[in-house]
Amino acid sequence: MSEFVKVIIEGKTYEFPVIIGTEGEKAFDISQLRKLTGYITHDPGFGSTGCCTSAITFMDGEKGILRYRGIPVDQLAEHSTFVETAYLLINGHLPNHEQLTNMRVLLNDSSMVHEDMKIFYQNFPRNTHPMGILSAMVNALKSFYPAYDNTEEEVTKMTLNLISKIRTMSAMSYRMSRGHMVIYPRPDYSYCANFLNMMFDNPVKPYKLDEDLVKALNVFWILHADHEQNCSTTAVRVVGSGKANLYAAISAGIAALWGPLHGGANQAVIEMLTNIQQSGYSIPQVIEKAKDKSDDFRLMGFGHRVYKTYDPRAKIMKKMCDAVLGKLKKKDPLLDTAKKLEEVALTDSYFIEKNLYPNVDFYSGIVLRAMGIPLNMFTVMFAIGRLPGWIAQWQEGVEDPNGKICRPRQIYTGAGLTNYVPLEER
Ligand code: SDX
Repeated sequence: MSEFVKVIIEGKTYEFPVIIGTEGEKAFDISQLRKLTGYITHDPGFGSTGCCTSAITFMDGEKGILRYRGIPVDQLAEHSTFVETAYLLINGHLPNHEQLTNMRVLLNDSSMVHEDMKIFYQNFPRNTHPMGILSAMVNALKSFYPAYDNTEEEVTKMTLNLISKIRTMSAMSYRMSRGHMVIYPRPDYSYCANFLNMMFDNPVKPYKLDEDLVKALNVFWILHADHEQNCSTTAVRVVGSGKANLYAAISAGIAALWGPLHGGANQAVIEMLTNIQQSGYSIPQVIEKAKDKSDDFRLMGFGHRVYKTYDPRAKIMKKMCDAVLGKLKKKDPLLDTAKKLEEVALTDSYFIEKNLYPNVDFYSGIVLRAMGIPLNMFTVMFAIGRLPGWIAQWQEGVEDPNGKICRPRQIYTGAGLTNYVPLEER
């Protein structure tokens, strides 16, 4: 039986249909609101606005639940690989052995980057942020690997190019920013092992793969692989709604992810922890600064639009910090600072009342530091992980038979009708 909500506007009653999700989430469909009532809604930041129905990722922010195609992220982190999880997100089911092998072969075949793309890297200033390079180079893929439409065959080609080449292009920006030679992908290395090798191999000091680090990188990217309608995914969907090509949509997603309130937070957390250490501020002083409205300092890596409890990814990431540092027999004083900050914050009424908990970015940087990833590459690492989710969400949007171009309305608050005043009269 269909459900409806009744809304009374200026004395007249209107009924709007209710949409109920798999897990019981409810929305009322207001797509006809303006046509029927002349009213629009106002919801800056879209905190109460659903832009779509989606079958890809389920999050319950109150319970701290995250599932990709129904599978809990902690099960995928324990049992899956990033390539298998990418297949799951994009195809809607786990691959069988043949499908997984086929995907691995196709990713290997797509892993090289056109040699002429190097010229772009050579001409970026050496201190260019790798997120800016990545967004530009992903957009350039359209020129080097033309896709003429969004047919299944073309989308498959773009998908393989993106998932495979994003590693190669990311490692290239790191290598060339340091004047080092580019390391090519290897057919005998797995997806994650290849990335680490392309980053760190050296002809005079060959990079020795550590299977524990390869496993940790798989988990890191699985945890980042999708997160329903976050800022950058919304950017990808919006660009896709105009029927731009997948490369352009992903380039927009990378740009949106770069912000410190979003994917750039993992870099900002390490900068914050480092500043705390260097400033000599005590933990209680830092917590007070984060609570002080007159101070623009925020506890980076804390808080979330959806999670009002511990981010399930942060729990896994926190355990991974100890595991990776322990394996490498390393210590990171920033981890101790992060743990102390969490301990004090989670007992403070300000954080408790506002439901502010560690999010995925609070501990992820510690794991990346342990792997030897440079700080300015942290958000690139987030982008590589999020790519399969962006592709799955873009595909779901462009394949929606009821899909429309995303074009929100507004309430105008500017000047009323104003006549032009000639220059000599001003
Ligand atoms: C990601 O959306 C996703 O799913 C994103 C992501 C993904 O996987 O795609 O999970 C990845 O982006 C994680 C978030 C990374 N960003 C940070 O860690 C930056 C620090 N966090 C905040 O800037 C903030 O919590 C946001 C941006 C994450 C969420 O912002 P909201 O939902 O708009 O919340 P808000 O800014 O309205 O804050 C509500 C209250 C405010 O106080 P009041 O105005 O009610 O008095 O909580 C306060 C805020 O001042 N607050 C914080 C805080 N975060 C919120 N106070 C201190 N430190 C913080 N970190």
